[in-house]
Formats: sequence, C-alpha cells, structure tokens
Amino acid sequence: EVAAAIDAKKTTLADADLDRRLMTEKIDVTLPSSPQADGYVHPISQTIDEIIAIFGEMGFTVAEGPDIEDDWHNFTALNIPPDHPARQEHDTFYLPGEHGERKVLRTHTSPVQIRSMMDQGAPIRIIAPGRVYRADYDQTHTPMFHQVEGLAIDRDISMANLKWVLEQFFTAFFGTEVKTRFRASHFPFTEPSAEVDIQCSWEGGTVKVGEGDDWLEVLGSGMVHPHVLRSAGIDPDEWQGFAFGIGIDRLAMLKYGIPDLRAFFDSDLRWLRHYGFSALEVPTLHGGV
Ligand code: DAH
Repeated sequence: EVAAAIDAKKTTLADADLDRRLMTEKIDVTLPSSPQADGYVHPISQTIDEIIAIFGEMGFTVAEGPDIEDDWHNFTALNIPPDHPARQEHDTFYLPGEHGERKVLRTHTSPVQIRSMMDQGAPIRIIAPGRVYRADYDQTHTPMFHQVEGLAIDRDISMANLKWVLEQFFTAFFGTEVKTRFRASHFPFTEPSAEVDIQCSWEGGTVKVGEGDDWLEVLGSGMVHPHVLRSAGIDPDEWQGFAFGIGIDRLAMLKYGIPDLRAFFDSDLRWLRHYGFSALEVPTLHGGV
C-alpha cells in the first residue's frame, strides 16, 4: 500500500511538473541560430573566394588543371624548350614517369592556360587559382604555395586591357585605390612581358597597400607569345591576348597582416582561430569582398 501510494504521488508530481514546463517554456523559432564557433575558413581559401568574386564580375570563369602535370604542359607548350635555363629557375619536383615521360608537380598555374585554350578555343577569359610546387623553404617560400593565372584571348585585346583589369582587381581586393607600375621583364610565354608592382608604404615597419611611394612586386604578366597560342591550337594571326600570374599567399599576407608565410601551412588551430573566417562570411563584390 505504501509503495503504491509513493508511485501515485510520484506520477502526480511528474504530471504537474510537465504541465508547468509546457505552460512556461517557449521556443522562438524565428530567432537566428547561435553562431557555430568550431569551424574556420582558412585565409587562403577566403582569399581565393575573394579573387573569384572580383574576376567573376569581370566575366572570367574559373578553370582548373592537375597538380601533377606533364613536362609538355608545364614547360614546352609555354615556349620553355627542354634545355631552356628557365627550367632550372623553377626548382622543379620531378616524379618518375612511364615510357621516359617524367611528370612534374606543376611549378606554376600557367599550364592551365594551355589546357583551357585547347579545351575551349578562342575567345576565352579564365582565371585558374590553385596550388603550385617548388623546392624552396624560408620565411617567404614554402614548397607548396598558391597562384592565380589569368588569361584573356580575343581579336583585339591589348596591354591597356591588362593594366585596367589588374588595377580594377587590386582596387576591389584591397578596398582602396591601388596604383600599379609595369616594369619591362622577360617570360618565355609572353611578349612583351612585364612585372607588376603595387603602390605601398613601409612607414612604421608595416606595409600598407595603396599609399606612399614605395612599390611591391606582386605578379608577372604580358601578351601571350604567338608560340604559346600555336601550341594550344589557336591562330596567332587571328587572336591575341594577355596573361598574368599572381602569388595568392603574398596577397593574403598583405591584406590580412600575416607576417610569416610558413604559418599558413602549419595547421596550428590557434593560428586558424585568429586569422580564419566564419563560413558565413562569403565574399561578394557588392559586400566589399
Ligand atoms: N608563371 C610565372 C611564374 O610562376 C608567372 C607568370 C608570368 C604568369 C607571366 C603569366 C605571365 O601568365 O604572363 O613565375
């Protein structure tokens, strides 16, 4: 009898408690969810998304190529024949290949120019962001780093178009008017070729882009060499255009004040929490990237 009385009382109390909770507890399903604090977007991924947003607005689509390239796409088709000294400058990682055909870890994103032209023909307007590899390691070099290639081929593309596109890009990317300086240079795959510097100041020991009267080299560019067009099956008497290759890691370091390149690839979660981005911060041009 006592046990039954205790059970009955228990049930009454539990029912009363449930009724009370149903009366008082509310959930507002219209409230935003609390932010998820665990995952972060790596600054390189964020920077690539920003670059795609800006060039996308200018009509460039994203092209891709393999990280493991063959010698022909990485060098020969880009007007770098087998005994050319530029091959040494690239500190290439070679992989054993079949039938005497050795593969390389691509040393730049330029082979994507060749692949895209062969796939799509002319006219063409692409960017190709991705990983590239060279045997090098210090504060400003890592064996794997990132570049974005740009290519625009049409009937009357000129170097003036190149300059405008790059200035628009840097101004949107850094959110401030950025002057550029073109210096005559040499790349086997462009003629004429130019190295491009952006305006910056070094006052107070930190670099600020878009002010001052110092210059910082950020990319190589030029008008695509007729040999390169021909290798990719495009008639250079009918088509011409510009190409450029920008180091992405350097841009991210400049924009986000990151002093050491190597930290990008150390996989240190504390670093990622500090420099990373929320997955909700999707870069858009109208949002000011
Ligand atoms: N591929 C060159 C490098 O990695 C960069 C470059 C220079 C790319 C000139 C280009 C170009 O498309 O036109 O050093």
